[in-house]
Amino acid sequence: MDDKRIDALCEQFRALLTEQAARAEKLNSDTAPQENREKTVIGIVSGDGIGPIIIREAKRLLERLLKEEIAAGRIELREIDGLTIENRLAKGKSIPEDVLAAIRECTVLLKGPTETPKGGTMESANVSLRRELDLYANVRPVRIEKEGIDWIFFRENTEGEYTLGSRGIELPGLLAMDFKVITDAGTRRIAKAAFDYAKENGKKSVSIVTKANIMKKTDGKFSEICHEVAKDYPGIEAEDWYIDIMTANLVNPAIRSRFEVFVLPNLYGDIITDEAAQLQGGVGTAGSANLGARYAMFEAIHGTAPRMIEEGLGEYANPSSIFNACEMLLRHIGETAKADRLRAAMEACTVSEKAVAVTGDKTGATTREFADYVLSKL
Ligand code: IPM
Ligand code: MG
Repeated sequence: MDDKRIDALCEQFRALLTEQAARAEKLNSDTAPQENREKTVIGIVSGDGIGPIIIREAKRLLERLLKEEIAAGRIELREIDGLTIENRLAKGKSIPEDVLAAIRECTVLLKGPTETPKGGTMESANVSLRRELDLYANVRPVRIEKEGIDWIFFRENTEGEYTLGSRGIELPGLLAMDFKVITDAGTRRIAKAAFDYAKENGKKSVSIVTKANIMKKTDGKFSEICHEVAKDYPGIEAEDWYIDIMTANLVNPAIRSRFEVFVLPNLYGDIITDEAAQLQGGVGTAGSANLGARYAMFEAIHGTAPRMIEEGLGEYANPSSIFNACEMLLRHIGETAKADRLRAAMEACTVSEKAVAVTGDKTGATTREFADYVLSKL
């Protein structure tokens, strides 16, 4: 074996380890307070693929719901351009600096899906935004009312397989290694978010989902720290589950409705929330909140749907997931009554009445037609 190549990779690893240790130390001392602002600025980022189509309708929805607040200057909807794959590639940056600066000026963000080039070194814009704004909690609710399913996933959003996902090491022709990073402080804060939610919402259990039998160091730590946090929440049971059997449990109608709150490392959370969303009616139906101490970003859980665009079906994209993200956004900024109105309208349009349905192709309604239907029910 070529020692020089190994030495060079060890140096790379040393740099990663030093950087991550510094990050973990900083997490321990971070107390970013929520700023108090007179005006709430909702930044709106369209993204790529079906992004501009579903965001166009989401903006119309927010304009309708927040009409008085906008007129009175208490809330502003601010479009932020430039987070497109074309501009990102041209600038060679996953988030161009001026775009990030504009985003930081906002109170919260509503974001359409953004394209991530496969391979290469360009990081996903989502991953960069989550890190830059320290949005550590990815909160994804899934409800199937007729089955009594009311799940909420607390996916750790800045660590795990994602922290160094674009910075693995490689001996070409021989092997490649990626790294998974779990920190004590990073785990503690997502665990606290999950247990706080359970406590505030009268939930009886939190399922800690890992593969600690195999990923012993990282998932072992994740589980251990969740149990430590659980001690501060008497009456809420902390259950350990492995990701493989939990994936099976979610498609087992005999037991799935008993689960309530889930807390899990980043990649497992990514995968299992797509499964859960599919059970609810498809990834086009689930909204997602990315929360940090200071910033919050709301989005659909799905991607840009390049195949729909290629087939000319973009205008048939389902806006439900971004509408559900709008509901979470409204709740987050304290507009509870408007969030409830939107929830009731969505319930009528997708469960009880269902007079207009999107199918994702020409057999169903267009994005605009479905949006009109929801607006008519507000
Ligand atoms: C999600 C998405 C993202 C992720 C992609 C677009 C980077 O799948 O929000 O679940 O992997 O987190
Ligand atoms: Mg995903």
